[in-house]
Amino acid sequence: MVKLTGLKKIKTAVFISGTGSNLKNLIKFSKVKNSPISIDLIFSNTSKAKGLKFSNRFNIKKYVSSFKNYKTAEAKILDLLKEENIEFICLAGFMKILSKNFIKKFSGKIVNIHPSLLPKYKGLNTHIKAIQNKDKVAGCTVHFVTAKLDSGKIILQKEVKISKKDTPTSLGKKVLKQEHKLYPTAIKKIFN
Ligand code: GRF
Repeated sequence: MVKLTGLKKIKTAVFISGTGSNLKNLIKFSKVKNSPISIDLIFSNTSKAKGLKFSNRFNIKKYVSSFKNYKTAEAKILDLLKEENIEFICLAGFMKILSKNFIKKFSGKIVNIHPSLLPKYKGLNTHIKAIQNKDKVAGCTVHFVTAKLDSGKIILQKEVKISKKDTPTSLGKKVLKQEHKLYPTAIKKIFN
């Protein structure tokens, strides 16, 4: 794992596909004095990702490439990550699966936030599944990314109570609020 040396922040890229509320929150966190990371690149597989607006707002370089040809896309991203001296990658609502080869190149340096208490509910529609199964608690997990989907070593988790009135949407909102706290805390845990 990359270790924090002196006051130098770890150059980080955030990969998104959507709204980017976790991205925004990570950017804010990165600006705090004792944050171990700086956000230096935003990558999205789609130009429709609303979160790309944070590139202009916070003056952070962005790069968009569809994953239709994932080999070309990943090769280009790897070049860019090298060019920008990126050492750490945060996936935040990134809806594409990175290849084994890509993950190997950044082994132990890619993390993801997932809206369930892993190993429960890997993949999509986690809140629908939790409610359908009449679970009493849901939550979120920050974990290292490995070639197997949502299966890497868990860094931190946060539970969220499910009330009888919760719908997948209301539960999603509650969990997302906790995600915004959990992601920075997990990053601090990795580097401290
Ligand atoms: C979050 O719930 C995250 O856990 C999941 O996708 C959602 C992304 O939300 N992987 P946002 O784009 O960060 O607002």
